[in-house]
Amino acid sequence: MASLGHDVVGIDVDEDKIAALNAGRPPFFEPGLGDLLIRGRERGGLEFTSDVSRVSEAEVHFVCVGTPQKPGEFAADVTYVDAAFESLVPHLTSSSVVVGKSTVPVGTAQRLAVVLAESGAAVMWNPEFLREGHAVDDTLHPNRLVYGVGTGADGQRAADVLDAVYETILADGTPRMITDYATAELVKTAANSFLATKISFINAMAELCEASGADVTLLADAIGMDDRIGRKFLNAGLGFGGGCLPKDIRAFMARAGELGADQAVAFLKEIDAINMRRRVRMVDIAREALDGSFIGKRITILGAAFKPDSDDVRDSPALAVARLIATQGGVVTVTDPEAIENASRMFPELRFVADTAEALTGADAVLLLTEWNEYRNLDPQETASVVAGKVLVDGRNVLDPVVWRDAGWTYRALGRP
Ligand code: UDX
Repeated sequence: MASLGHDVVGIDVDEDKIAALNAGRPPFFEPGLGDLLIRGRERGGLEFTSDVSRVSEAEVHFVCVGTPQKPGEFAADVTYVDAAFESLVPHLTSSSVVVGKSTVPVGTAQRLAVVLAESGAAVMWNPEFLREGHAVDDTLHPNRLVYGVGTGADGQRAADVLDAVYETILADGTPRMITDYATAELVKTAANSFLATKISFINAMAELCEASGADVTLLADAIGMDDRIGRKFLNAGLGFGGGCLPKDIRAFMARAGELGADQAVAFLKEIDAINMRRRVRMVDIAREALDGSFIGKRITILGAAFKPDSDDVRDSPALAVARLIATQGGVVTVTDPEAIENASRMFPELRFVADTAEALTGADAVLLLTEWNEYRNLDPQETASVVAGKVLVDGRNVLDPVVWRDAGWTYRALGRP
C-alpha cells in the first residue's frame, strides 16, 4: 500500500513485531518485502504501532488478521477478526470503509456489517489470493480483485473508495469483480479447495502409479498439455501444507455442515486424507530404502518450511515426516535455508543444522522434502562424498533419477518407479 503511494499505519498487538517493522525488518521471510519496507520507511508514509487509536487518522481500514483452525475442531477461529472489528468501532465515522482481507467462513461479513452498522462505516470483503514466497508480486500484480459489498449506497461508496486505493493496479488492466458478501467469501474458500483438490488428484494418481509401475511426473506432463486441465498445481509429491490450504478445506467442511450443505463438500475429506497419506507413504519408502528399520540410522531432511521461499512451518509436510521418523527410532537432522528458527521453536526435540554440507555429513539416507533451489541443484557426486549411505528419497520429484542413479545412488520417489 505504501509503495502504491498511500500513507499507511500498520497495527499489531505484538510489540516485538512493531519494533522490527519500524526498524525496516520484516518479522518473517518473504522475498522482496524487506526492500519495500525500507523504502516505505525512508519515504515517510509507513509506520507501525500498537496504539489502535491511530486508526482514527485513516479512511480505509484493512483487517488482515489470521483465522487459524480451532484446536480439536475443523472450524476456523474467527475471534481475532471479531476483536479487530470491535477495536475499530470507537474510531469509525460514516465516511470510514472497513475492508476484510482475512479468509473467513461464509456469513462473517454480513454478521460484522451488523456490528459496525451504528458507526455508519461501510464494510466490504476483499479476499486475499497471495502465495507465500510470491507475496509482493501477487499483491502488486494480482490476477483479479474481488470486492464483496453490502447492498445500497454503502456498497457503491466502498467500491469507489477501493477503486481509488487500487488505482495503479486497476490501471494495469487487472480484472475486478463486484459481488455480494457471501460470494466474495466463497471465492476464496472455493479457490483454495480447488487448488487442494488438484494437488490431491495428482497425488491419488501417484498412488496408482506406485501400484502399477507408472511414472506420475510423465502422467502429469501428458494430462497437463490439455489446457482444460493445465500443468500448474499438478506436482505430485509430499502434498500440501501451510497456513492456508489444510485449514481452509477443513473450515469449509465445518461451515458447510452448519449450513446443512455438508454433502456438497464431503469430497474434501478425501482430499485431506489423500494428502495426509503421502506423509506416511514417504516414511514407508524411506524405511524400505533403509532395509526396513530406522533404528540407529541417520536421516538428513532437506527442507523444513512448508514450501520453498518461505520460513513458514505451519503444518509443514517435511516436519511431519521428520517427527514420524524420529518416533520410529531414526536419528533425524533437519536443515533449511530460512525456516530453522521457526521449526526448532515448534519441534525442539529434533536436531537442526543450518549448513547443508554439515547436515548431510554422515547421513545414511537423504530426504528432499522442500524443493528449495539449493537442494534442486545439489551435485550427486559432491553429496556422495560426505554421506555414509547413498540413499536419496525425492519427496518433491524435482531431481533427475537418471543422473542420481548414474552417480551410484539409490533414488526413490513418490509415484515413480
Ligand atoms: C495458497 C494459495 O495458493 C493462495 O492463492 C492463497 O492466497 C493462500 O494459500 P500458499 O499457502 O502460499 O498459497 O501456498 P501454495 O503455493 O498454494 O502451496 C501450498 C502447498 O501445496 C505447499 O505445501 C506446496 O508444496 C504444495 N503444492 C503446490 C504441491 O504439493 N503441488 C503443487 O503442484 C503445488
